[in-house]
Amino acid sequence: MWIGVGKGKGGAGCTTAALELAYAATRRRTRSGRPRRAAVLDLDPQGNATDVLEPESRRIGIKDVLTPHDPLPLRDVLLPSVWDRVLVAPADRFLANREADLTPDAVTALRRTRISGDIDGLVDDVIIDLPRDIGKISAAGLLGIRHLFITARATIWGAQGAEEMRYTAERIASRGNPELEISGYIIAAFEETPDSRRVVEEMRNQFGGKLLAPPVPRKIMVPESLESFHTPCREYGSELEPVADVYQKYYDSLLESADDSR
Ligand SMILES: Nc1ncnc2c1ncn2[C@@H]1O[C@H](COP(=O)(O)OP(=O)(O)OP(=O)(O)O)[C@@H](O)[C@H]1O
Ligand SMILES: [Mg+2]
Repeated sequence: MWIGVGKGKGGAGCTTAALELAYAATRRRTRSGRPRRAAVLDLDPQGNATDVLEPESRRIGIKDVLTPHDPLPLRDVLLPSVWDRVLVAPADRFLANREADLTPDAVTALRRTRISGDIDGLVDDVIIDLPRDIGKISAAGLLGIRHLFITARATIWGAQGAEEMRYTAERIASRGNPELEISGYIIAAFEETPDSRRVVEEMRNQFGGKLLAPPVPRKIMVPESLESFHTPCREYGSELEPVADVYQKYYDSLLESADDSR
């Protein structure tokens, strides 16, 4: 499955969701009974997902796929990570420089990779951490995927950001990716207060059944687990299991409902 995780506002739990969904994928099996393998494509020049997954080198990365000059095939930039059965296409700050000179051909590189099935023998799931800026790099990601999760905090600005991302996704879908579907809106780092409950109610009116339940609970050890220890929430310890369980549930329901075709 080609899955994107995006947001309209920074710090919305997007990278965390991309990583946790990739990990959730590796705990499931393919129809033939083999454990699933995932690739995380880091399309955010901040490179946070790359930092967590620690590939041996960042010399080559997603910037070499999204280039008009001698592009590399995606398979050549998928590197082993410190997580079992998770490959990573690294990002670095040079990715930001790609924005200006991305040709239409480069913008559709990931889409062509998906449709050609070129990495089907390598991984079962591709999870893209989309950047916040709405530019050609995020368009390249949105054109490539079939399933999109949008993350948001339960705040008014968070809900506005999710709405903006929906608008962008719908525009991309109508202009070049008719297979793109919003799989759900994820409320990240949720803490129950009267105000956050009210925002969730408003988001339910806005996004209907696509607002995923339950929200991801806020647990203060999440940054430590991923950023300091490079460890998925499930492997950090029992206090982060509720977080891992929610992402597993989101992944499992997508796996159940999606046909595995490209
Ligand atoms: N469930 C959670 N509980 C507590 N903290 C969380 C939770 N989920 C994410 N965080 C923390 O919130 C911060 C922002 O999350 P994250 O980096 O995933 O968001 P993002 O949308 O990718 O941000 P950016 O805009 O920088 O790309 C991180 O420090 C992360 O560890
Ligand atoms: Mg991020």
